[in-house]
Amino acid sequence: MELCKVEICELERKHVSKVRKLIREIFPSWHAYYAEKAINNHKILVAKIEDEIVGFIQFKIVNLGINVGHIYYMGVKPEYRRRGIGRALVIRAEEHMKSKVECFIASTQEDNIPVLRLFKSLGYVCTTWRDAYKILRDLGADLEDEYDLMWRIYDYDDVVLLKLNRRLKI
Ligand SMILES: CC(C)(COP(=O)(O)OP(=O)(O)OC[C@H]1O[C@@H](n2cnc3c(N)ncnc32)[C@H](O)[C@@H]1OP(=O)(O)O)[C@@H](O)C(=O)NCCC(=O)NCCS
Repeated sequence: MELCKVEICELERKHVSKVRKLIREIFPSWHAYYAEKAINNHKILVAKIEDEIVGFIQFKIVNLGINVGHIYYMGVKPEYRRRGIGRALVIRAEEHMKSKVECFIASTQEDNIPVLRLFKSLGYVCTTWRDAYKILRDLGADLEDEYDLMWRIYDYDDVVLLKLNRRLKI
């Protein structure tokens, strides 16, 4: 399948149930619970092929004294993976946030090789919550410590993926 047949667009109300179904197909129940909950308070882009929802990404801008673009859950239907859809979703999410944020942040489990490679291929560095906290504090974030960062963006996975937007390079 060619990537040009895939359309990336904002989630429409009529597609919410399809995204919920996709989330339950992709994630175990614990993660599915949080990903479904996030539908209500995150921006969501979907990847569509004709009328089928084959992927999604959740993100939002969080103000920590500086604006941070937080990428939360994303997923692509197993039969549509390795065709560039995941990468296209991250790039489009970044485009939505890039005029307003100092950096982009995501997290994943240390054994999630697809996510680690995907984000590294887009210029993200892999770091710890402690180091991410220090980097954000140096950028001007108003944070007490790494736990404050995890609490404020409501994220907690093993490995942090961080990319500065425009001004600085890590
Ligand atoms: C992570 C995920 C969204 C990637 O979606 P995708 O559409 O397959 O990703 P892409 O085709 O855009 O891949 C982009 C790059 O990521 C890396 N990658 C993706 N899948 C990979 C795999 N199975 N093994 C190794 N690297 C992989 C590669 O570097 C790839 O580039 P390449 O194909 O040019 O080598 C998908 O694997 C998925 O839905 N996983 C289950 C859900 C999940 O873990 N979500 C993340 C936590 S919220």
